[in-house]
Amino acid sequence: MNIQGQAFRTIWLKPGDLTRIQIIDQRHLPHQLFIEDLETVDQMATAIKDMHLRGAGLIGAAAGFGIYLATLEAPKNDFFETFIFQAAEKLKSTRPTAVNLAWAVDRQLNAIQQGQSIEEKIDIALFMATQIADEDAEHCRHIGEHGLPLIEAISRKKNGAPVNILTHCNAGWLAFVDYGSATSSIYAAHDKGIAVHVWVDETRPRNQGASLTAWELGQHGVPHTIIADNTGGHLMQHGMVDMVIVGSDRTTYTGDVANKIGTYLKALAAHDNNIPFYAALPSSSIDWQMEDGLKEIVIEERHGDEVKYMEGLCESEIKKVLLTPLNSNAANYAFDVTPARLITGIITERGICKANRESILDLFPEKKQHG
Ligand code: MRU
Repeated sequence: MNIQGQAFRTIWLKPGDLTRIQIIDQRHLPHQLFIEDLETVDQMATAIKDMHLRGAGLIGAAAGFGIYLATLEAPKNDFFETFIFQAAEKLKSTRPTAVNLAWAVDRQLNAIQQGQSIEEKIDIALFMATQIADEDAEHCRHIGEHGLPLIEAISRKKNGAPVNILTHCNAGWLAFVDYGSATSSIYAAHDKGIAVHVWVDETRPRNQGASLTAWELGQHGVPHTIIADNTGGHLMQHGMVDMVIVGSDRTTYTGDVANKIGTYLKALAAHDNNIPFYAALPSSSIDWQMEDGLKEIVIEERHGDEVKYMEGLCESEIKKVLLTPLNSNAANYAFDVTPARLITGIITERGICKANRESILDLFPEKKQHG
């Protein structure tokens, strides 16, 4: 997608240097575009854990490149495999909820095993990291194509008046390698000349909606309005939301969707107001082992300071301020699970399905052993 008219991805191999990965350090957005160079698997693990980069698809791509960096760093002797295995564990332990992380690491480990020599394993790791990233972008582009008719249909019904879409957190291109999941259909509709307007939940405590989704929609010229997290229900009651599209960090093959904390409340409000609620996600975010999202999905708990403090631009400087009594406790659950029954449909790279086992497995028949 574009930043000031220039095409960008969120992660890439540094041009002319096979030993460095470059990322947009999202901690500085929307105020500053900062590109960070990463040379070691430890640096990649820190970038994931401390959220220099974030979002399910991007975390997966970053983990793929992390394993590639590990192959470059690993001792070129009998300890090569041990180093890679430890790097894999380190990467997997950074963030628990997004399934793309473990999925990408395991995909890399399986691929590397096929190499006969260390040199060949390094080549395979680079090839696979690039493939994971390219696939993520391509899958998100397809999600946009499949979701577009949903927006077109609402637009027709409204005789071309703007389609009001509510989204939560950032399931935009910054959360993936390109295009985004929830935003991909929105960009496709906007590019086709369909009038759309996006309600952007600010998404406390880290404000990915206010700082990231708003920024990327703005860069693409998509009309949008930032709202406090508690506003969506009111808008829905007053006919100001035509549909909700969110992303997902892990979706069970039975259709339960884990996404940024607060998503469940939006789904309840949408259900109560008969508003279609879609989750848009690439199949890399589907957990083919889990069938009960509420019981099985591990919800990341982050430091309470993310709730107590807030960062923002103040007189040209980024400043952090305390919002709460210093000594109050704060709990910071990063995700929640929306049960399948509240979801109208899941938009994937292969098409749209219902949020249930049969419909998901019909789109992905090669996974049918789980049925
Ligand atoms: O904690 P984050 O920012 O990594 O959370 C992930 C998300 O961006 C959202 O939950 C998003 O809606 C999921 S789509 C990648």
